[in-house]
Amino acid sequence: MSKRYTITAALPYTNGPIHIGHLAGVYVPADIYARYLRNRGKNVAFICGSDEHGVAIALKAKMENKTPQEIIDYYDKLIRDSFNSFGISFDNYSRTSRKIHYQTSQEIFKDLNKKKVFQEIVSEQLYDSEAKQFLADRYVVGICPICKNSEAYGDQCESCGSSLSATELINPQSTLSGSKPKMRNTKHWYLPLDKFENFINEWIIKSHKSDWKQNVYGQVKSWIDNGLKPRAVTRDLDWGIPVPIAGAEGKVLYVWFDAPIGYISSTKEWAYNNGIDWEPYWKDKETELIHFIGKDNIVFHCIIFPIMLHASGSYILPKNVPANEFLNLEGEKISTSKNWAVWLHDYLEEFPNQQDVLRYVLTSNAPETKDNDFTWEEFQSRNNNELVAIYGNFINRVVVLTNKYYEGIIPEIKSRSPEDEKIIDQIGIITKKIGSSIEKYKFREACQNLMQIARIGNKYLAENEPWKLIDKNPKRVSEIINTALQITACLALVSEPFLPFTYEKLISILNIKSLKLTWSDAFMKNDLIPSGHQINEAKLLFKKVEDIEIENQRLKLANNKKR
Ligand code: MF3
Ligand code: ZN
Repeated sequence: MSKRYTITAALPYTNGPIHIGHLAGVYVPADIYARYLRNRGKNVAFICGSDEHGVAIALKAKMENKTPQEIIDYYDKLIRDSFNSFGISFDNYSRTSRKIHYQTSQEIFKDLNKKKVFQEIVSEQLYDSEAKQFLADRYVVGICPICKNSEAYGDQCESCGSSLSATELINPQSTLSGSKPKMRNTKHWYLPLDKFENFINEWIIKSHKSDWKQNVYGQVKSWIDNGLKPRAVTRDLDWGIPVPIAGAEGKVLYVWFDAPIGYISSTKEWAYNNGIDWEPYWKDKETELIHFIGKDNIVFHCIIFPIMLHASGSYILPKNVPANEFLNLEGEKISTSKNWAVWLHDYLEEFPNQQDVLRYVLTSNAPETKDNDFTWEEFQSRNNNELVAIYGNFINRVVVLTNKYYEGIIPEIKSRSPEDEKIIDQIGIITKKIGSSIEKYKFREACQNLMQIARIGNKYLAENEPWKLIDKNPKRVSEIINTALQITACLALVSEPFLPFTYEKLISILNIKSLKLTWSDAFMKNDLIPSGHQINEAKLLFKKVEDIEIENQRLKLANNKKR
């Protein structure tokens, strides 16, 4: 393990709120990873921010008769607040509309331009003579030349995932005026991806076959196999960052040129605010750069942005890009425009103080290797059968018994029985496994093992039945309770990355803040809580989700959809 980590989570577009698909795919795994590394004493910069340019935002403003600025201000606040209440522990959450980001992206553009990385190409592009503007990206729809989907956009077909340029669309149509575009000449700056095929080949295809996720590696390979083409990184639009060179008046940077640079500018902003140097986080070979993204962002993070970084010369490349697949909702694709989603800000309001339940369900069922489905039924059963019945129940029993038999003071023991020793060892091994699963981005597996600790604890109590022995054999009861308390403390420690709110509650119930335990203590080489230590009363950790709540959520979805 390195000592410094730059962890990025895809910058969300400020044209809609955050939903469970974003959370499961990007933000929850990234947060678990960042929290885990902090627990291991690493130097972490967990970086994100709002992605505020691009046609999607300009279009949304037009449709709602607002300015783009009004749209981004509204969604930036909604997104920022909801991440915050959900416990996503970003070290910095910036905005690509900030000055520091304008400067940073313009500098990088100028630097690449000076290094003659770009090709300047004049070509015929689609022009809407009614709206008096060029059409690119989401300003134009048409038939996908590859899969024949009739609603492909000018930059991408969402049906087959192909990346397109607007002129490739069959029967293109302006989304601004509905008219049929004409062709008109315009000059743009292109990043010649084809010239960097070798670089990608050496760096990913030859070296990351076994340590990168198969879905990510496979996508990169098929891009390379199909051959890379030069890609325009400027646009004729009025919403975006001005291209900072003579002869490019009226043009802006392509949103996918400036957005990933947002990771760098957000890191800079964070470093300035904290009086530290940003550069080691992006330039020191000892730093591990990890991008958390959804699968629709793979090409940008594994090919285009790395080529920009590589061409600039001084930057490190990502160590890994653990992209996830998609999460569906009740069997259907999540869709912002069709309002088929569970929105984070709604969830936080309707399930107050239950952030950890959603975090747990989304991790247990994360779309790590294939698309997965979120259902309210599973949400209820994971909560009721796992968090309440296993995790909550175990903690509650231990805490209640300690208070009942020992007035909350950890009982003293002479030695641990071999049987108890075995359980403690077993828990230590599981803790190690949780760590190595996280380091391999296997968050589902890690989460299962977390619950396994509670399961073992529960079984231990059920088999030893201290409540039946308290009169006959008090010495044995003190051994059992002491052992169970050590397991409880271990469970608290390893829960932090997954269930940070529950962790806080547990620390306060066990009254162990002052013990300053760390993740390495959870390997169980020594006792975690000393005898004589005073704990507090039990508090409710999880509560049952009732049928009616689930029914209401399903109804809400059905109603939303009709509108
Ligand atoms: N806004 C993009 C999306 O939601 C992600 C941008 S990631 C970054 O798909 F690298 F560009 F920042
Ligand atoms: Zn297609």
